[in-house]
Amino acid sequence: MSVLAIGSGILPRLGEKLREAGLSGRVFLVSDDHVFPLWGDAALNGLRAGGFTVVSYQLPAGELTKSLAATYRLYDWLVEHRAERVDTIVALGGGVVGDVAGFVAATFLRGMPFVQVPTTVLAQVDSSIGGKVGVNHPKGKNLIGAFYPARLIVSDTDALRTLPRRDVAAGWAEAVKCGLILDAELFEVLDVNAAGLCDLTSSLVPAVVERCAQHKVRVVDEDEREADLRRILNYGHTIGQALEAALDYQVLLHGEAVSIGMAGAAAIAVRVGLLDPASAERQNAVLAHFGLPVRFPRDAPPPSVDTILERMARDKKSRESKLHWILLDRIGHARIASGISLDLVSEVVEGLL
Ligand SMILES: NC(=O)c1ccc[n+]([C@@H]2O[C@H](COP(=O)([O-])OP(=O)(O)OC[C@H]3O[C@@H](n4cnc5c(N)ncnc54)[C@H](O)[C@@H]3O)[C@@H](O)[C@H]2O)c1
Repeated sequence: MSVLAIGSGILPRLGEKLREAGLSGRVFLVSDDHVFPLWGDAALNGLRAGGFTVVSYQLPAGELTKSLAATYRLYDWLVEHRAERVDTIVALGGGVVGDVAGFVAATFLRGMPFVQVPTTVLAQVDSSIGGKVGVNHPKGKNLIGAFYPARLIVSDTDALRTLPRRDVAAGWAEAVKCGLILDAELFEVLDVNAAGLCDLTSSLVPAVVERCAQHKVRVVDEDEREADLRRILNYGHTIGQALEAALDYQVLLHGEAVSIGMAGAAAIAVRVGLLDPASAERQNAVLAHFGLPVRFPRDAPPPSVDTILERMARDKKSRESKLHWILLDRIGHARIASGISLDLVSEVVEGLL
């Protein structure tokens, strides 16, 4: 199980945290060219204060970096510096850096110790936890990868201050999801404090990140390889990911697509009599408080319903060719449902566009 260290201003203690986690050897710090100029020095100083020798590498920022080509450049760099199995790979950045560096850590020398230092809301509440690492194939996202949990995850919530506001809001979509599927009290906290969380002025930022992270750690711990329980974390993803794919990952950020997907899932749950309409409205109102979309934005041409349905059918999460849905039966509780008619799905998707 990964050790979590979450707090405001803990980056200078990064080296100390690695020592506490029993890590030694050199550190291979992987970041991107947006994050490293902002937070690289703090990370390097924190590691050196803990007595570590550090070598660093900056990948180009952005989703295109999640490729086997980037992985190969990192392998070359590790070979050049004669990295050994006792050395540690540290990922400093958002989900992209975490996914790529984690895949390299999982595969180089058949596995090197791996530490995540997530710097986006999405990465702190979600992607750094659970051990899914990997890269995209030109024909599909996240097709190449492994389950390789980080030994340690160090989340300094101060690092979020330089994140563009849109990315902050999109990251909180995963926190709202967490409240909706697992924790009605967290959902209330998010509702009441949406404004302060969006501009990061709320003193609750570290507590909310920690609560979401703990939930994910617990769920993943019970179901590391996504047999069943872990699948509830995919709430909003069936429609959301299909929408992202149909738009070639342009237009919407992941969290925004998941937000629209959650609106769609709630509409389906209401139509099949699982969820009361007031709870669905409440969900959508809270998403809107975070500035998140609950339908496709009017200022962009929407994909067709057929394209989205086709993408959904291709989704690797569909099992035995039947699509499973994660639906709420109340705020704070989700269940897996199948047998939802295609006509209903099509109608709901049309309503979202
Ligand atoms: N492994 C998982 O379980 C999992 C779960 C969800 C998403 N993901 C993956 O995560 C990726 C998305 O992650 P993301 O939203 O963090 O995107 P990202 O890593 O691309 O970061 C978004 C942008 O913000 C910049 N950035 C990061 N931290 C910053 C900071 N503190 N200040 C200023 N700029 C900063 C980055 O350079 C980038 O330009 C996707 O590839 C997705 O597939 C993985």
